[in-house]
Amino acid sequence: GRKWTEVGSLSPEMREQVVLIRGRVQTIRPVGKKIAFVVVRERGFTVQCVLTVKHELVSAQMVKFATSLSKESILDVEGVVTVPEKPITGATQQQVEIQISKLYCVNKAVPTLPINIEDASRSEVEIEQALEKGEQLVRVNQDTRLNYRILDIRTPANQGIFRIQCQVENIFRQFLLSEGFIGIHTPKLIGGSSEGGSAVFKLDYKGQPACLAQSPQLHKQMAICGDFGRVFEIGPVFRAEDSFTHRHLCEFTGLDVEMEIKEHYSEVMDIVDRLFVAMFDSLNEKCKKELDAIGRQYPFEPLKYLRKTLRLTFQEGVQMLKEAGIEVDPFGDLNTESERKLGQLVAEKYGTEFYILHKYPLAVRPFYTMPCYDNPAYSNSFDVFIRGEEIISGAQRVHVPEFLAKRAEECGIVVKTISTYIDSFRYGAPPHGGFGVGLERAVMLFCALNNIRKTSLFPRDPQRIAP
Ligand code: 4AD
Repeated sequence: GRKWTEVGSLSPEMREQVVLIRGRVQTIRPVGKKIAFVVVRERGFTVQCVLTVKHELVSAQMVKFATSLSKESILDVEGVVTVPEKPITGATQQQVEIQISKLYCVNKAVPTLPINIEDASRSEVEIEQALEKGEQLVRVNQDTRLNYRILDIRTPANQGIFRIQCQVENIFRQFLLSEGFIGIHTPKLIGGSSEGGSAVFKLDYKGQPACLAQSPQLHKQMAICGDFGRVFEIGPVFRAEDSFTHRHLCEFTGLDVEMEIKEHYSEVMDIVDRLFVAMFDSLNEKCKKELDAIGRQYPFEPLKYLRKTLRLTFQEGVQMLKEAGIEVDPFGDLNTESERKLGQLVAEKYGTEFYILHKYPLAVRPFYTMPCYDNPAYSNSFDVFIRGEEIISGAQRVHVPEFLAKRAEECGIVVKTISTYIDSFRYGAPPHGGFGVGLERAVMLFCALNNIRKTSLFPRDPQRIAP
């Protein structure tokens, strides 16, 4: 096989080397009949390639052929790397050019595209500037992007987003493996709701009522009853959401953890703390190019976080809000607006945009949540926030079967539908707890993006099941 070079790895040190690349046509600009500039893009990186009849291997016919190629067609280009005198300004463009000696079209794209990748890659500021200058360009709206997602994800920012997502998953797995956790897979077809509430997709399971799992909650706890000690799962989660918002999907990826607790539920928060500090460190260190590409289209400030994650109790949060003139019910849940406000207050006071709020009122948590020993109006539970929005919820669980059944009943759950779950605790169950992270939400908020659809490859929301 021949040696291939990635567009993203081209650099001025390769000057005078012959390279072979494969990419897509981003633009073709002919200059007379003897020269054509072909910008080739691969994985969000571009390089300008020059076809000139002065080159012994290039004919006028080749220039004509190149000029006829449609945008997004797949090309193989071979040529010598040169370094232009004037620095190249294009955002993700490599600082070199390729003087083409061979050019092959591997596969053509149709002549008109529903999305122009260059237009779809511009920041809001760039769009404004271009429109002021009277340039012709189309603002690509969200629905168009999602309808033609396979084109949309070719933009540099989107290429970055999904590499960040992969890294988040990777660190999650690596970190937990190094802490003695075992990765598991729980069923996604289950007999009933696992979180309570009605947000389930119901289906017919060979004549029996069933649904798509709302979370791995029940089975990850059962894995603890099965003596795995510490488990994690990366898998799909289904929610029949009614809310069409910037942060709700009907299918998302859950990063779930469940573990034995020896003495105190803070052991679970310790894992959150160390896992996420390691994750943010790693993203900032290993994903500079990706974060850069995202920031160029959607400018954002790097996340502020502390070496040791701040923990506030729910009551302390309520007090901070009260001091800022916002009254919230001390036994209710925070709404989106007060969560955001609290996020701001915390950032101002403690200099962090990542923190844990714990000891929530029991009434607003699911039936399996352990009440506080000293004050059962509250619970051994927590939520974790990035930039004032929830990315995690977690808790210690009830491990005493009689009490668990009682709590389920009190919360309006038909105990019969979860009897195998409750029975699991009758054969010796250790104290335990865990948490669930929404992958798309975590990436969205780490990068300060404004919509969860941007961090889901093919998002499913209340109005979309295609592509
Ligand atoms: O808060 P949730 O519903 O908690 C659970 O599922 C528990 N079983 C977790 C646990 O171990 N105690 O969901 C956990 C996380 C949320 O913090 C949020 O990040 C994400 O999942 N999430 C969603 N993400 C996208 N779309 C939705 N509709 C989501 N619902 C929750």
